[in-house]
Amino acid sequence: MQAIDIIRQKTDDIEIKAAIVLGSGLSSIGDLLSDKQVFPYSELPGFPGFAQETKAVSGHGSDLLIGKLAGVPVAILTGREHYYEHGNAAAMRPALETVVALGAKTLLLTNSAGSLDESVRPGNLMMLRDHINYAGMNPLIGEPSDKRFVNMVDAYDPDLRKKAKQLALDLGFDLKDGVYLWYSGPSFETVAEINMAIRLGANSVGMSTAPEVIIARMLGLKVWACSGITNMGAGMANEEISHTQTKNVAAICAEKFEKLIPALVQTL
Ligand code: HPA
Repeated sequence: MQAIDIIRQKTDDIEIKAAIVLGSGLSSIGDLLSDKQVFPYSELPGFPGFAQETKAVSGHGSDLLIGKLAGVPVAILTGREHYYEHGNAAAMRPALETVVALGAKTLLLTNSAGSLDESVRPGNLMMLRDHINYAGMNPLIGEPSDKRFVNMVDAYDPDLRKKAKQLALDLGFDLKDGVYLWYSGPSFETVAEINMAIRLGANSVGMSTAPEVIIARMLGLKVWACSGITNMGAGMANEEISHTQTKNVAAICAEKFEKLIPALVQTL
């Protein structure tokens, strides 16, 4: 049986408006759902870790949640699979195809990232205006149809960005946007790589999201993506960058996401 059939057995014909992917340390957003149904990825064919005992990357959840966020039917993917886990950039494709089959027209992506912009500090959020695929790997390699030739201009929906900026202001914080550079990881960047990223025009750096955006655009989803800034890029501050720090600071970012994302889904 396919993932969509397993989900449909419990959700009848519910049509979701949007799907939301939660990044490292952000899984608390899933607690905001009402009428929640939980589907562990391990039981959904094609999802990260299907039929496996192995745990998701620490700080990430591994459930698909279906329910209502601020009264709006949505799916939440509490964790993602990263390119650095196995070298497969298309790992999230079956999960994204499933949320499209459930009715999603919009994809909201969150992640944790390092800031290259001195004015956006740890604990702040930064929306993605565009990305640089520095990992150089494309999730559509091997896709046989002409659908693979995806237009990436305005991949990050300008209208959703504008709405989110205004909503953040209403909630009391400034929400900057920037260019996200996708670096494969899992090691963090060297100081030289951060200097290069700045010269290339990047404002943030992280290990996810860009492949999902490419897949989502092929599937016709509108995309909005936003980083929780957990640290300054390597060498930019007197702090040691680590996954523990990422998870700790992400919890501060989560409080902002918990207000912004419900407000944003209400506009869909
Ligand atoms: N680099 C890459 N990925 C990240 C970082 C970073 O500095 N912080 C959180 N995720």
